[in-house]
Amino acid sequence: MMMQKPTLATTLFAVLLLIPSSLALKEGQTCVADKNCDSGLHCETCVANGNVRPRCTRVQPINPTSKIKGLPFNRYSWLTTHNSFAILGKKSMTGSVILSPTNQQDTITSQLNNGVRGLMLDMYDFQNDIWLCHSFGGQCYNYTAFQPAINVLKEIQVFLDANPSEIVTIFIEDYVTSPKA
Ligand SMILES: *[C@@H]1O[C@H](CO)[C@@H](O)[C@H](O)[C@H]1NC(C)=O
Repeated sequence: MMMQKPTLATTLFAVLLLIPSSLALKEGQTCVADKNCDSGLHCETCVANGNVRPRCTRVQPINPTSKIKGLPFNRYSWLTTHNSFAILGKKSMTGSVILSPTNQQDTITSQLNNGVRGLMLDMYDFQNDIWLCHSFGGQCYNYTAFQPAINVLKEIQVFLDANPSEIVTIFIEDYVTSPKA
């Protein structure tokens, strides 16, 4: 007797049978809905990163000091966002549309509330103040300037006042040259 070649439909059926419905997807695996993902994960795209395929993503990182206490600061790993201020879909506080690349989907406050503990901020002289900005040729423009740095520093202050035992690290990419800054 000749073996029949399996059709696509029978193959798919067999594959579906082999995957128990309780098998939860791990971090980084592509998913359709939150319920596909293992506990502590949700199904999320990262549009700011150009990653539009939803993947199982950790809801919140583990607080490193909850695992082990008393280590020096530089022995812990902290979830850090690059260009934390460059938020997708935000207008410049100058009123201009932003033409420079964006890196994050969440506000600084929600980043902090979701466990981000390191913020990378690019600071420039702009409009007689210090702004969080990207530049063309070292120069900040309305369409690359997000907002004055003080606004974000105040968001961090509000978070730390409410959560005094948390540790937040600010990395300043410092382009400020004005003498009083
Ligand atoms: C930049 O924005 C400021 C408002 O913050 C405005 O007064 C100024 O005219 C804008 N500059 C340009 C070149 O559009």
